[in-house]
Amino acid sequence: MTIQQLLSLRVQAALAAAGAPDTPAVVQASSKPEFGDFQANGVMGAAKALKTNPRALAQSVVEHLDLTDIADKVEIAGPGFINIHLAPAFLAARLQAALDDAALGIRKPAAQKVMVEYSSPNLAKEMHVGHLRSTIIGDAIARVLAFVGHDVTRCNHVGDWGTQFGMLVAYLVETRQSGDAELELADLENFYRKAKVRFDEDPVFADTARQYVVRLQGGDAEVLALWKQFVAVSMEHCQAVYDKLGVGLTLDSVRGESAYNDDLPVVVSDLRAAGLLVEDQGAQVVFLDEFRNPEGDAQAMIIQKKDGGYLYATTDLAAVRYRHRALDLKRVIYVVDARQSLHFQQLFTLSKKAGFAPTDMQLEHVAFGTMMGDDGKPFKTRSGGTVKLVELIDEAIERAYALVSEKNPALAEDTRRSIAAAVGVGAVKYADLSKNRTSDYIFNWDTMLAFEGNTAPYLQYAYTRVQSVFRKVGDFDASAAVVIDAAAEKQLALHLAQFDEVIESVASSCQPHQLCAYLFTLAQQFSRFYEACPILSAEGATRASRLQLAALTARTLRTGLDLLGIAVLDEM
Ligand code: ARG
Repeated sequence: MTIQQLLSLRVQAALAAAGAPDTPAVVQASSKPEFGDFQANGVMGAAKALKTNPRALAQSVVEHLDLTDIADKVEIAGPGFINIHLAPAFLAARLQAALDDAALGIRKPAAQKVMVEYSSPNLAKEMHVGHLRSTIIGDAIARVLAFVGHDVTRCNHVGDWGTQFGMLVAYLVETRQSGDAELELADLENFYRKAKVRFDEDPVFADTARQYVVRLQGGDAEVLALWKQFVAVSMEHCQAVYDKLGVGLTLDSVRGESAYNDDLPVVVSDLRAAGLLVEDQGAQVVFLDEFRNPEGDAQAMIIQKKDGGYLYATTDLAAVRYRHRALDLKRVIYVVDARQSLHFQQLFTLSKKAGFAPTDMQLEHVAFGTMMGDDGKPFKTRSGGTVKLVELIDEAIERAYALVSEKNPALAEDTRRSIAAAVGVGAVKYADLSKNRTSDYIFNWDTMLAFEGNTAPYLQYAYTRVQSVFRKVGDFDASAAVVIDAAAEKQLALHLAQFDEVIESVASSCQPHQLCAYLFTLAQQFSRFYEACPILSAEGATRASRLQLAALTARTLRTGLDLLGIAVLDEM
């Protein structure tokens, strides 16, 4: 149980004893040390409801409040705030428990079967910056959920189906005949462009492409084999990006749109059987009362087009159905651009209405904003083209290499190269993860690679500084008692003891920026502690205890960064 949860229970019991049962305790970390370490603010609301004096109620709550062994001071402030000062021995015991646990004392809740669906590029083209946010955010969420003990499936719902594949397969056949298909495929972006040119210019080619679509969707073995080859090459490109980024997606995580092809007619018949489907201008549609257009009419969701073709939404309905029936997932997290919000709201509503998902299945759209350039417009190359993800990552690593070489020219070339990879990739990831995901953010090389401020390099560097303490110390007693005495020690201890709270919060809200903010504060608290409380010149039990605080800080930084998919280094 987190400290916040523990205090909430105790305050709630005291509220009940003071005549205000079922009242939320509203316990939160205090904004300033003079207000204690935690504040319980529930009294005001309770007093209002009971029409009683809040100060008097607060007095009675405090009299009934049992915080023996937890707090050493409890005060009433203002109209009825209860300020709680934690006892140093209580904090020390919490830290000791974290030190003794490989998972840093993180509570393992009853495991839930969860899927995190992320990245999900369309395979016709190479991955570009538009896929970066989903890939990075989704991976961090998957890591956090697995860390708290859930049974996590990572799913890459790639766009590998649809009419454009007829065109691509036709072009693949054509270039194979002239012998340079493999060469052309090395640049998927160009491959797509050239196929499109052929399609637009040559009616015979366009006809062939259309025939391929029909044959592909009809399950023709020959065309399917060609399509599979194209998908395989395309997936190799994606995998190279995932490996470079250190993202935990593999070929096993892929279950693309094509996998649901056979289920699409079933989705239609199920919806019809449920009485939800109507014919509208030849198309099969569902009208959802929950969503109204500006005229106040129920919005239509098209399930099958007039020509019999299916849509993006049809596939997604089939996927929900599969994820419940075949995988028995309890929670599915879709990490997708905010511009698809309406689609997901409709999808979730209809899935539950149609019985594709039980009402208590958690279907969540984890939305994110757009990555912008310095000009405040969606990030593009100088000439206005889309930026390939591989190139962006390579540039990050190059820039980091230049910085590291400038800062530390004495390091061996190999070492500088590996530092550059960790710093470059870390900077790109952290710049994204540290922002509230729902807003757009500006991609700027200089800010993300700065060694000052809320950046990956700052945190990575903070980690190396803690490690350097241990290099100077040599052997130390990893079982020494933690004793909290000085103010800076207490502040650091208090923050360390709230790691479980932030992790639980990220696991439920899917907001990795909370973890970033936590780690940034941790690094700052450590610097303050390090300045105020010398470690190396201290002696005996004090020195041993301070080393324990440093050790836990290092482990917390490393674990936290790892959950964000960012590597730490021993030197940089
Ligand atoms: N391939 C889609 C795109 O690039 C994203 C897929 C998101 N996931 C989903 N289940 N619809 O826009």
